[in-house]
Amino acid sequence: MSLYAIGDLHLHFESELKARNQIEDKVWQNHEKKLMDNCHKVINEDDTLVLVGDHSWGRNINECQKDLEYIIELPGRKILLRGNHDMFWDANKTEKLNEMYKGKLEFLQNNYYTYKDYALVGTKGYTFEGPFYVDNYGNIEGWDEKEAEHAEKLVKREYERLITSFEKAKADGYQKFIMFLHYPPTNILQANSIFTKIAEMYKVEQVIYGHCHGESRFHDSIIGKKRKIRYSLVSGDYLRWNPYLILK
Ligand SMILES: [Fe+2]
Ligand SMILES: [Fe+2]
Repeated sequence: MSLYAIGDLHLHFESELKARNQIEDKVWQNHEKKLMDNCHKVINEDDTLVLVGDHSWGRNINECQKDLEYIIELPGRKILLRGNHDMFWDANKTEKLNEMYKGKLEFLQNNYYTYKDYALVGTKGYTFEGPFYVDNYGNIEGWDEKEAEHAEKLVKREYERLITSFEKAKADGYQKFIMFLHYPPTNILQANSIFTKIAEMYKVEQVIYGHCHGESRFHDSIIGKKRKIRYSLVSGDYLRWNPYLILK
């Protein structure tokens, strides 16, 4: 029995939309097949796979059917987190998705799931992504204050959702946590954030996140151990479509 994660599949079986790097970068060519094959090599039916968001380019649930069916076909139990591109997932309708896909997929938001004696908690998260203003040497000398203010509001909402997830698990007696985010735990300027503080407060063992893809983004946030917590980026292209083993 093992716990795995990967994210940012950006499937588009029914949607015309896709990112430019999905057309140009070699790592994205046939990525659906690469991931399916790699998952079947290591993941067994009694394992758990957490998909940390940006599942589909579809703009609504109808445009996502085949993408979600593909995810159902992946081996093991599947838990999904909401990414910024997951238009099919209305933030207020997580329970409805859980009813629709009962026995096939589980949707993590304002709730929690379990793996052995761990609670799997999480939310989409949010980080300020600019615009940043740089000097001739590429050093950041300022940023868009209005956008930063807007980001603060979104961070607050995600903070509340994350606390809800933790508190539900705690109320049920869980003391060991793995925390999942779609966005990285910090923005490119930060060493700490409200999300790293929550992780420390609840003494989580690992923080798993996605969203950073394309080589230039891989090191936007924390990777590795920091104050007793292991931070891991699991975007699919970063992992070259090999699911990341969180726990055995
Ligand atoms: Fe993404
Ligand atoms: Fe994303």
